[in-house]
Amino acid sequence: MADFENCPVLDIENVSKNFVMSDTVVHALKNVSLKVEQGEYVGILGPSGSGKSTLMNIIGCMDNYDSGEYRLMSIPTDKLNDNQLTMVRNRLIGFIFQKYHLVSTYTVLQNVMMPLLARGYSYKDAEKKAKEKLAMLEMSDRIYHKPNELSGGQQQRAAIARALIGDPKLLLADEPTGALDTKTGEEVLKLFRTLNDMGHTIVMITHDLNVASHAQRIVRIVDGEIAEQ
Ligand SMILES: Nc1ncnc2c1ncn2[C@@H]1O[C@H](COP(=O)(O)OP(=O)(O)O)[C@@H](O)[C@H]1O
Ligand SMILES: [Mg+2]
Repeated sequence: MADFENCPVLDIENVSKNFVMSDTVVHALKNVSLKVEQGEYVGILGPSGSGKSTLMNIIGCMDNYDSGEYRLMSIPTDKLNDNQLTMVRNRLIGFIFQKYHLVSTYTVLQNVMMPLLARGYSYKDAEKKAKEKLAMLEMSDRIYHKPNELSGGQQQRAAIARALIGDPKLLLADEPTGALDTKTGEEVLKLFRTLNDMGHTIVMITHDLNVASHAQRIVRIVDGEIAEQ
């Protein structure tokens, strides 16, 4: 693969994405350019309908784009087939969602192990690493609980442990405090701050200026355009 040493984590150049619906075209992203360097903590802030989810799906290699270029850790993403995209997502990105997206029938421990099992780790090795990560997030006394036996804040910490388990190059968070009360949300944002201080690159998508202001840099998106960097 490419040189990982000092390249930007994200290098998005003039990316556009349209949705065609019967007789109308929605220009969801218009010539978006955005560079995020290793170690940055960027908040992408925009109102509903501004293109945040569309951008998140492209950054997360979950959707394609119509024109422009997007390199993730210097890898041109438009050259990758589905298997390679799955591998890139698993190796390079830790996803954190508003609603946690934990598997309800698995324990916290099993949820956190999943990205490593997908990579072919043995159950024992994955379990060991997952326990370490959950200990770091002060979740050791909850590892055999099912998600519905946890508070929202604990579920999000489990999801953050799962995002971190594979040492991703990017933590990609979509409204990570959106389902939490203010105090619990603040705790999650404090954790993001700590993770960034430890060297993790974070891109956090939100409609809430108070949330975005925890980031080191705010990028505004309005009507599919990056308005300010
Ligand atoms: N799958 C889709 N088909 C058609 N239009 C879409 C689709 N996804 C998003 N859009 C449109 O693209 C624009 C941006 O949407 P989105 O990225 O979801 O915004 P946000 O996440 O900021 O609310 C909106 O006008 C939305 O209606
Ligand atoms: Mg959205």
